[in-house]
Amino acid sequence: MTLKSVLSLLLTVTLLALPAAAQNSAQAPGDSNGFTLKSDGLANILQRQQDKASDGSRYSTVPSRPDIPINTLPQGSISDIYRAVRTDTNGQVRVSARGPATDVMIQTAGMEWLSVRAGPLRTWGGYLLLGTIVALAIFYLIRGRVRISSGRSGILIERFNTVERFFHWLMSGSFILLALTGLFTLFGRVGIIPLVGRDAFAPLAIGSKFIHDYVSWVFMVSLAVVFLMWVASNLPSRLDWIWIKQGGGILSDDKHPPAAKFNAGQKLVFWSVVLFGTTISVSGLSMLFPFEFPLFSKTFGVLNAIGFSLPTDLVPQAEMQLAQLWHAAAGFILMAIIIGHIYIGTLGMEGAAEAMTNGDVDLNWAREHHSVWVEEGDHNPRPAGGQSTSATPAE
Ligand code: HEM
Repeated sequence: MTLKSVLSLLLTVTLLALPAAAQNSAQAPGDSNGFTLKSDGLANILQRQQDKASDGSRYSTVPSRPDIPINTLPQGSISDIYRAVRTDTNGQVRVSARGPATDVMIQTAGMEWLSVRAGPLRTWGGYLLLGTIVALAIFYLIRGRVRISSGRSGILIERFNTVERFFHWLMSGSFILLALTGLFTLFGRVGIIPLVGRDAFAPLAIGSKFIHDYVSWVFMVSLAVVFLMWVASNLPSRLDWIWIKQGGGILSDDKHPPAAKFNAGQKLVFWSVVLFGTTISVSGLSMLFPFEFPLFSKTFGVLNAIGFSLPTDLVPQAEMQLAQLWHAAAGFILMAIIIGHIYIGTLGMEGAAEAMTNGDVDLNWAREHHSVWVEEGDHNPRPAGGQSTSATPAE
């Protein structure tokens, strides 16, 4: 490091009372790695001012510059400075920039975050998604498609109206975009840069981040609407237990446990989307507005009240790091659930996808999978491609 950069660091950071800290304590507060300050204080400075450096080895990296006042380096070697900056926890570091995180200039725990992000998060997240896809492929090979066992009736009934379908697709389209751009951000360095190079990756990464940041609003709004739209039909009912005990009838073409508008499996998807979608949104907002919504100190405080022992004095950077890990981990879990949902809504089950494409399903499909819903509602049945068969008057 040049003298110029040492000086600029010193101009930015004024370390007060460090000599005292060094003299008085064997370990600086917050110095979990056990580094201590080596300065021996005023005597040393005075000695140096008199051009009698007491410990030549400690100053050997600083070339002799008589034009620069010697007391700009008050507390010792460059490593002492960095150590002091890194371990400061009680307001000794002063910076000119104002902001919630500006006086934490070096955060050792950041390396731990980085190693979790680049290690277990990527590895286990990747395994979870690939494992889900492989498991579904094996299931498909063994079980095959769930057929309409009584065949198509040729009569259609409306399953989801236009508003329901619009918000389903708004939410699912935005979620898929967020998932892809999120994965791009997390795996870009290891998965994309080796393929396209850094120069091509840079604009892609910027574009991906832009999409991720802005599409998140579409997801949050559509999630709220979907919640309001379908929450009443997703409350637990006694039919759910019957459905669960029969495994949803998924292993047999002839078993069809009764269900209302949504069966227990779909309720599980709905509540997963609501709960994971909400926690992903909240942690995302915490990152979108850095340091404005610290989530973890308070949450850990609440958890500590019921027996946990979690840190509650997190520096702002640690809040952001935990938000990122939580956001990504919850995102991976929801992605895995949604892969399962997409499978059963398309390849896995005959007659399901049309409920969300044109809104109508075959009456026999509805009887097999949602018998109570068919019996209880007035669904205006009509022949496929024809007029209504019910006694509704022509308009
Ligand atoms: C290509 C992607 C997707 C397809 C083909 C698809 C298909 C479907 C279909 C066919 C239904 C209605 C099932 C029925 O009639 O009972 C449905 C419902 C639903 N979808 Fe999707 N969907 C997709 C993506 C998503 C995504 C990404 C989300 C959430 C982020 C989502 C959340 C839901 C929810 C909460 C329901 C209601 C509960 C349920 O039926 O499981 N969908 N979807």
